[in-house]
Amino acid sequence: MSQLFPSALLETLRKARSIAVLTGAGISAESGVPTFRDAQTGLWAKFKPEELATAEAFLRNPKMVWEWYRYRFDMVRTVQPNPGHYALAEMERRVSEFTLVTQNIDGLHQKAGSRNVQELHGNIQRYKCFEDNQAVESWAPTEEMPPKCPRCGGMIRPDIVWFGESLPDGPYVAAHMASETCDVFFSIGTSAVVFPAAALPGMALRAGAVVVEINPERTPLTAQATYVFQMPSGQLLPELVKAAWGAVDSSKQ
Ligand code: APR
Repeated sequence: MSQLFPSALLETLRKARSIAVLTGAGISAESGVPTFRDAQTGLWAKFKPEELATAEAFLRNPKMVWEWYRYRFDMVRTVQPNPGHYALAEMERRVSEFTLVTQNIDGLHQKAGSRNVQELHGNIQRYKCFEDNQAVESWAPTEEMPPKCPRCGGMIRPDIVWFGESLPDGPYVAAHMASETCDVFFSIGTSAVVFPAAALPGMALRAGAVVVEINPERTPLTAQATYVFQMPSGQLLPELVKAAWGAVDSSKQ
C-alpha cells in the first residue's frame, strides 16, 4: 500500500515538529461502534440523536435519556481499539508535539495508548451532576434512573456535551492552539459538519499546515484538504505510519 503515499507527504511527516489530529465516529467504526448518524438501531431507531442528546430531552424524560446512554455505555464497554487507534498512539511516540482531538466519547484512543487526548464532547464513562456540573465518581446502588447526586440530590447525567451546550474550555483551547500551530493536521472519520470541531481543519489550513483527510466518504473538507485518502482509517493509518516512520509495534495491535 505504500505506493499510495506521495513521497512529499512522507517527507513532511518525518520532518513535522507538531501534528494535530481530529477524530470522529468513523475511527471507531472498525471497532464495531456505529457512527453517530448510523447509531439509531433497534429500540432507538425512532429517535433522532438531537431529540435525546439535549438538556431539554433529559428534563422532559430523564429515564428515557438515561436508558439510551446505558445502552450506548454497555456497547462501548465491550469494544476494543482497532489498528487505526493503535497507529495514532504510535504516531504520538514518533513526533515531539502531538495533540489528538476527538469528538468521540468512547475512550478508545486512551485504551490504545494515546496520551495527549483532548475530548471535545466528554466521555460516556464519566458522570456529573445535572445541577452544578461537578463530577460524580460514584453513588449508592439503586434501581432509580437516573440515580441521584450523593452531594445535592440532583439528577446524575453522563459527562457528555449535549447539543446546545458549550465545549469544555480546556480541551477546546488545546484543540484550537494545536490546530493553529501544527505542521500537519489530520481529519479522520468525521463528517466535518458539527461545529465548533468542524472549524479546526480550516484554522490549520489558514495557518499554513498540510491537511490530510481520511474518510471513505466525501465531506465539506475534502475539496480543501492537501491530501485525501478515501479509505477506512483502520486500514490506512497503520500503513501510513509504517511508510513514514517504520513498522508499527504489532504487539500493541
Ligand atoms: N474510517 C474512516 N472514516 C469512516 C469509517 C472508517 N472505517 N467509517 C465511516 N467513516 C466516516 C463516515 O464517512 C462519516 O463521514 O466517519 C464519519 C462519521 O460521521 P458522523 O457519524 O457524523 O460522526 P462525527 O463526525 O464524529 O459526528 C460529530 O456529531 O452527533 C454529534 O456529538 C456527536 O461527536 C458527534 C459529532
